[in-house]
Amino acid sequence: MKYLQITGEQELKGSVKISGAKNATLPILAACLLIKGKVTLTNIPLVSDIYTMIELLSNLGAKCLIDEHSVCIDSSNITSTKALYEIVSKMRASILVLGPLLSRFNECEVSLPGGCAIGQRPIDLHLKALAKLGAKIELKEGYVKASGKLKAANITFDKITVGGTENAILAAVYAEGVTIINNAAMEPEIINLCEFLELAGVKIEGIGSKCLKIHGVKELKSDFTCKIIPDRIEAGTYLCAGAITNSEITITNVNPNHLLAVIDKLNELGVMLDVQEDKISTKKYKKLNSCNIQTSEYPGFPTDMQAQFMALCLCASSDCIIDERLFENRFMHVAELQRMGANISLNNHLAIVKPSKLSAAQVMATDLRASSALVLAALAAKGTSKISRIYHLQRGYEDLCLKLQSLGAKISLKDENDDK
Ligand code: UD1
Repeated sequence: MKYLQITGEQELKGSVKISGAKNATLPILAACLLIKGKVTLTNIPLVSDIYTMIELLSNLGAKCLIDEHSVCIDSSNITSTKALYEIVSKMRASILVLGPLLSRFNECEVSLPGGCAIGQRPIDLHLKALAKLGAKIELKEGYVKASGKLKAANITFDKITVGGTENAILAAVYAEGVTIINNAAMEPEIINLCEFLELAGVKIEGIGSKCLKIHGVKELKSDFTCKIIPDRIEAGTYLCAGAITNSEITITNVNPNHLLAVIDKLNELGVMLDVQEDKISTKKYKKLNSCNIQTSEYPGFPTDMQAQFMALCLCASSDCIIDERLFENRFMHVAELQRMGANISLNNHLAIVKPSKLSAAQVMATDLRASSALVLAALAAKGTSKISRIYHLQRGYEDLCLKLQSLGAKISLKDENDDK
């Protein structure tokens, strides 16, 4: 088993290039299933979730060719419309193939993704939206079986859902008429998906707003290239790395407009930033203030940055309150942070984070973002920490160890077998 060894209290310096957004690449890869031809995606991140989605598309018959940070997908000859449990169970976002497969082939079967570390995460809203478009849906033997020729409809989400909005957009592409999606999620990754579909010839009104109008088509264009946006969560994580070590670092290949809520909270904590068009630098501070955080849908503070800010708040000069509003079980990192000396008390969806002297420990990653909080805490802690189960990190952070090493962090990737 691989683990990360990190010796803390090192000042970082230099710059690091942010990769393409995992959460934009996943729905766009699923969207490639709609297209009877080749398309190329550039700036894709080389992380395991992306390989899982490519494995899923290949299993359905798509030809996928990765060349460095680009991938060419040819979905001309799809041979199966069944997304198997063996692949879907590796990654919940596999559910995003439901909309495109149903829209193009009028039938499909996708394994139910099941629970995950950060909560129950149901897909009822995805299914309700597809049913609105005329799909007949059955749940049988662990699979969602969907069928029917889809027709445009008015969909109003009861609750804002990123994946649900993406599945509804994708399903609406071949549905005859204009589908209206109200209370849609407005994340930059959804805008990237809409831009991809526009390149394929779909007319979409209201891009980036709560109300989307998708004009159904009979055919889509192929042979175009779409660039993936920078990963705002990876970017935010490196900003926290600069902040927690009180260092001056620069992150490049970013879109600061996607990071406004994160930048605001860093400023509130007293971390000043130099924000340019596509790069951001952290500056040194005298002391960290405190701040309160409530996670919410975009453009609010992202739940995917909650764990990293919790690590940072441990270094603040007074108590911080973190209110997790999106996922009921997203405090798995707390127990591990406590092993490093963190003084955090939990009360349902509230975490009260008290100033703490962090010290190195052996800890275990529990989910993707929880793992990055442990890395951040280890960068600030006195001594050498060991973080195991790092496959969680590899799902979403490209070359995390190399990138942090390039900033001067004392971090190395080790194998337990070599220690014996
Ligand atoms: C996406 C992101 C994830 C991020 C989350 C919230 C991807 C691949 N993942 O996940 O990193 O943390 O957005 O920003 O883009 N819900 C239901 N029923 C549904 C669907 C969702 O009740 O059918 C609930 C969820 O349990 C959660 C909330 O709605 O409480 C938001 O979830 P959602 O926006 O759907 O998250 P994901 O798309 O799964």
